[in-house]
Amino acid sequence: QVKQATNQIVMNCADIDIITASYAPEGDEEVHATGFNYQNEDEKVTLSFPSTLQKGTGSLKIDFVGELNDKMKGFYRSKYTTPTGDTRYAAVTQFEATDARRAFPCWDEPAIKATFDISLVVPKDRVALSNMNVLDRRPYPDDENLVEVKFARTPTMSTYLVAFVVGEYDFVEARSLDGVLVRVYTPVGKAEQGKFALEVAAKTLPFYKDYFNVPYPLPKIDLIAIADFAAGAMENWGLVTYRETALLIDPKNSCSSSRQWVALVVGHELAHQWFGNLVTMEWWTHLWLNEGFASWIEYLCVDHCFPEYDIWTQFVSADYTRAQELDALDNSHPIEVSVGHPSEVDEIFDAISYSKGASVIRMLHDYIGDEDFRKGMNLYLTKFQQKNAATEDLWDSLEKASGKPIAAVMNTWTKQMGFPLIYVEAEQQEDDKVLKLVQKKFCASGPYTGEDFPMWMVPISICTSDDPTRAKMQILMDKPELTLVLKDVKPDQWVKLNLGTVGFYRTQYSPEMLESLIPAIKDLSLPPVDRLGLQNDLFSLARAGIISTVEVLKVMEAFVNEPNYTVWSDLSCNLGILSTLLSHTDFYEEIQGFVKDVFSPIGERLGWDPKPGEGHLDALLRGLVLGKLGKAGHKATLEEARRRFKDHVEGKHVLSADLRSPVYVTVLKHGDSTTLDTMLKLHKQADMQEEKNRIERVLGAISQPELIQKVLTFALSEEVRPQDTVSVIGGVAGGSKQGRKAAWKFVRDNWEELYNRYQGGFLISRLIKLTVDGFANDKMAAEVKAFFESHPAPSAERTVQQCCENIL
Ligand code: BES
Ligand code: ZN
Repeated sequence: QVKQATNQIVMNCADIDIITASYAPEGDEEVHATGFNYQNEDEKVTLSFPSTLQKGTGSLKIDFVGELNDKMKGFYRSKYTTPTGDTRYAAVTQFEATDARRAFPCWDEPAIKATFDISLVVPKDRVALSNMNVLDRRPYPDDENLVEVKFARTPTMSTYLVAFVVGEYDFVEARSLDGVLVRVYTPVGKAEQGKFALEVAAKTLPFYKDYFNVPYPLPKIDLIAIADFAAGAMENWGLVTYRETALLIDPKNSCSSSRQWVALVVGHELAHQWFGNLVTMEWWTHLWLNEGFASWIEYLCVDHCFPEYDIWTQFVSADYTRAQELDALDNSHPIEVSVGHPSEVDEIFDAISYSKGASVIRMLHDYIGDEDFRKGMNLYLTKFQQKNAATEDLWDSLEKASGKPIAAVMNTWTKQMGFPLIYVEAEQQEDDKVLKLVQKKFCASGPYTGEDFPMWMVPISICTSDDPTRAKMQILMDKPELTLVLKDVKPDQWVKLNLGTVGFYRTQYSPEMLESLIPAIKDLSLPPVDRLGLQNDLFSLARAGIISTVEVLKVMEAFVNEPNYTVWSDLSCNLGILSTLLSHTDFYEEIQGFVKDVFSPIGERLGWDPKPGEGHLDALLRGLVLGKLGKAGHKATLEEARRRFKDHVEGKHVLSADLRSPVYVTVLKHGDSTTLDTMLKLHKQADMQEEKNRIERVLGAISQPELIQKVLTFALSEEVRPQDTVSVIGGVAGGSKQGRKAAWKFVRDNWEELYNRYQGGFLISRLIKLTVDGFANDKMAAEVKAFFESHPAPSAERTVQQCCENIL
């Protein structure tokens, strides 16, 4: 539609040559554009017409040539090997956030929605897929080897969600309970590996339909595994693309954590079909709406499909704590952040949008209650369907549904960065306890000293030893200080804040209150998610220098009886951070000894082989503990790992999938060049990408300098898919102190190639973070800063600042 008479049309366009363009007003003759003026920096083209285009509707026709690139964005080629060993290419798309413009000229903004009629002309022996179902497939008149595939018209949608794929694939299919045809496309010969995801998807679609009370609007949905793929997965409407490792499960060779990951990713991308695709954010400033929401509801969905995963506890260690870690930095950013240039858009696909977003939605859901929350969601999704919405629109709907002051509360969480530390002390007054709460911004670098006092509206829940699972009191803390009276709480009863670790804040207890909680950790009367949260708060308070590390390590000792996988996993992560820090000091050996002491009782209890009746979480726990003990050099573990590895390599006894990572990492950490060569051979032989990735991620455990170099060279070789290079280098950096230095040097020496490979994009931020985050002195911070001043990476600017801040 021409809204104003003009002789120019400006649209997005990148790496495309326009051959002809013409505009035909409705019922009138077409006018050919005579000039194409490319503004490469802005990724735009201006079409100039010899006469004025008058107000009214018409059609714009463009003939153009684009490039099937190698950069995993826009319309690109993805390399794969056929069962007979031939190398071939599939053609696939990845448009989010701003790369549809590399496939066709368009107005490439989320709020400019359109319907799409897509036809593809492809070799007749190839599978051709797009967002919609096929309407027609017929021989292409000019070439008998080609067919023309015509797809049904899409609903009104944003450009970043358009997709097409051409390649060789097998599939499995099912019809979901609500009548949608679901297919999982796999590499040729691997259809069986699609069955797990197919089951999850077929269960998930009706779950969301019911949760939102809005049906899935397309007749079909395809989930497809793509060999070369930058992100984990992409929610293209009706054609969701995945990395192979985020979709394929082999009953024998996939480990429990892969199953869980596939379930989460499927749950995440299918949620976007409603939240993101049907209702889309107005602009990338509201990206968090998409990603935060999907990152929350994927857990709800997995909890529905696999209650035995205890997935909500895992949410706290995977998302909640990760978000708090990042958001405690001065270089964090508010959830809602204004962005313009594509590199700024790439930059916000980070833990703030995803994990903090998900965490504040979890807090909000808890504050509103499930019933009203669902009502609000339905209101929002029906009101804005096939349209766009901003953060305020969601608050409006939830406010209508709940009658609570949602916008006022939530603005404090999404419009300012950071989160509060709540200091609490208690005083016994006869049969009551009087609590005094003070909130202050939590900073990773130490007590908050700023001059403006940012405040949050914090939903606070309080429980006592009477019933650790029920809130004795719930209150909205909307000021800096608060005094509360808890009736009928005897002197010997403990009090805890934040039950369920749902509120997005950290808690610092007075020494007496903390002391009184320790027995509740030991006797496990405090629920797992609360033990986890308490422990995590303590660690980060110690890291910030607010309490002493020795005190924290003492509390660690209360975890001797800990049976819970997720609690262990978070503990292990924190001890890992501590030992990385201590690797720069003389205390390294001591902390390794401490790790062995902490983990050996549970290691002995678990043993190496699953016992009858064990489940998912036991398998995860065993892998975690054995890996930790093995890496720390626990003698018995190391010997058994070596024995089992030998049997595995000799084909005598194949390691179960869940034991492979811990065994691999153990033998490598204490191995030599023969061990490395054996691992590289296993890598070459592996048929499943999951196994290749498993090996790639542990190679960095090797400690001899020349072998570290070998691993780094391997990272950039043909053997490693481009998107996985990052985790090999990251593994080296995280594997040892020497590795960290070597990896950083390697990144500097190969900067051009790496930067080019990812063309900016978010993988470069990930690479930088993995490589430099573990350094711990000013000299390194200065070196990192200086390097990126002379080698700018616009989409990773904030990451660089965050890393430098972490190093200091
Ligand atoms: N929309 C994203 C994919 C994406 C990520 C596009 C970054 C462009 C840049 C997708 O929904 C997503 O969030 N994928 C995650 C996996 C998910 C389970 C957290 C990913 O790719 O890491
Ligand atoms: Zn997403």
